[in-house]
Amino acid sequence: MTEVQREVITLSSAQCSIEKWTLRSSSVSVEIISLGCVITSIKTADRNGQSSDIVLGFDDLECYLTNSRYFGAVVGRVANRIAKGQFVIDGKVYNLANNNGPNALHGGLRGFDKAVWTCGPVPDGVRLSHISPDGDEGYPGNLKVSVIYKLEENTLSVEYCAQTDKTTPINLTNHSYFNLAGQGAPDIYDHQVSITADAYLPVNDTMIPTGEIKPVDNTLFDLHKPIALGSRLKELPGPGFDHNFCLRFPEQPKLEIKCARVEHHGSGRVLEVSTTQPGVQFYTSNFLDGTIKGKGGASYPKHSAFCLETQNWPDAVNQTQFPDALLRPREEYNHITRFTFSVA
Ligand code: GLA
Repeated sequence: MTEVQREVITLSSAQCSIEKWTLRSSSVSVEIISLGCVITSIKTADRNGQSSDIVLGFDDLECYLTNSRYFGAVVGRVANRIAKGQFVIDGKVYNLANNNGPNALHGGLRGFDKAVWTCGPVPDGVRLSHISPDGDEGYPGNLKVSVIYKLEENTLSVEYCAQTDKTTPINLTNHSYFNLAGQGAPDIYDHQVSITADAYLPVNDTMIPTGEIKPVDNTLFDLHKPIALGSRLKELPGPGFDHNFCLRFPEQPKLEIKCARVEHHGSGRVLEVSTTQPGVQFYTSNFLDGTIKGKGGASYPKHSAFCLETQNWPDAVNQTQFPDALLRPREEYNHITRFTFSVA
């Protein structure tokens, strides 16, 4: 049985109240706030039974209002990049704010990560709902979104659901930053990672997929067998991983796939991820630079965490060979991702 607790917290600068929900099972405890649908903490035991918080974030919840790194948040209406912040639906051109060089990133200037969601209880968890109005950040249609976080024993599931009254692109993910040694540990070099993807998407110099769906065979992106992150990051050209791994191709049926496993030998902690989404953005916190003051006074340098953002392929709304990115009226957007925590 999961214990579910609700608390109301007043944020003085925003002059508003937000809710904090705590989900507690016998082995894992998770905290979620209604601001940005953010997971602010995940506590799991190491092999000696010592519990640590394994996600990056802030002690002062006000900081989530201005955080530009999306710690723990649900990102939308469209996670990841849209080239030149532009797309066309039924001949109509839509323009978004370009908030990442020449491109649009993670839902815009005020995306779902900055909204205050409405909460309600569900068995073993909490449902957070949000209405994104027609024209919100340039996107068409009134979009009703809900996210259900559930903790069942050692598995945290995140279920996304949405409906629209006009055709819109959509791509929802959770942007938690993990360090299995405990948040605040300086790097993730001693983590072993495997991702069950046969292909990945090379990107151009503004991080937009070139359109090539490249087999991982004989490349540094072949993560079928576990690799030590430290040595692989040294070999990889560029600042680190920030790439979409293709879990399933457009013609394949939507099934839940075990997509990634990360193990930290020092603590014994293991994270396994499964999802119905067609891709996962594996990101090694290349843009963190130690300037953010995190939980417990931690500084978060480059490579101090990893993200496994299960989602559709980036820029899918502009690349017809990628999985369909559009949600149409009377359709339902529905995806689930599960994070399972254990010790080896
Ligand atoms: C995603 C992107 C990264 C970066 C982070 C947030 O992982 O792919 O390039 O934008 O979000 O800093």
